[in-house]
Amino acid sequence: MKNIVILISGGGSNMAAIVRAAGSGRWAERFGARIAAVISNQPTAGGLSLAATNGIATVAVDHKAFAVRDEFDAALAAAIDVHAPALVVLAGFMRILTPGFVAHFDGRLINIHPSLLPAFPGLRTHQRAIDAGCQVAGVTVHHVTTELDHGPILAQAAVPVLHGDTAATLAERVLAQEHRLYPLAIERWLEIEATASPESA
Ligand code: GRF
Repeated sequence: MKNIVILISGGGSNMAAIVRAAGSGRWAERFGARIAAVISNQPTAGGLSLAATNGIATVAVDHKAFAVRDEFDAALAAAIDVHAPALVVLAGFMRILTPGFVAHFDGRLINIHPSLLPAFPGLRTHQRAIDAGCQVAGVTVHHVTTELDHGPILAQAAVPVLHGDTAATLAERVLAQEHRLYPLAIERWLEIEATASPESA
């Protein structure tokens, strides 16, 4: 079985979209893949209870309990490795990960970022796009590397920036695309994995 572990920090709407797609897309039967666990750095993350009601193992690794970033990342990696993941999915995960963590999951660590990278890495992407007068905005699914929001791109979706848009109205339009794009990008990854190593499907 290919285990997918999803990391969240908040509501987990992207995680929920992926969980739904794993069921409706029959990932277990088609790819031998399942969502093995949802892990958050925020013990109060709403996504943890959402995952638990879907019968998915949940763990909170509270970053505030660690004085040193490397120690948090080591504890997080250990919690993830319990599930021997084929893929680690950052979904609304709001921590910058250390190079050691990224190296440990190299090649099987992906993220979703609410802009058309390489434009607008970092935070406040929607306001920055509006301030720059962009006509188009969007979302990127990419491999995670040690350089923040700069890894090889897996998928993108564009949305129009409409006259009078606020960061909130643009974020809402982009989020709808995130919920469509992330499951699609993961399914595409699973298909490539299945053809690359058919015996492990
Ligand atoms: C989303 O805007 C996503 O682009 C960013 O985190 C936000 C919340 O995601 N990565 P979620 O609802 O917790 O999945």
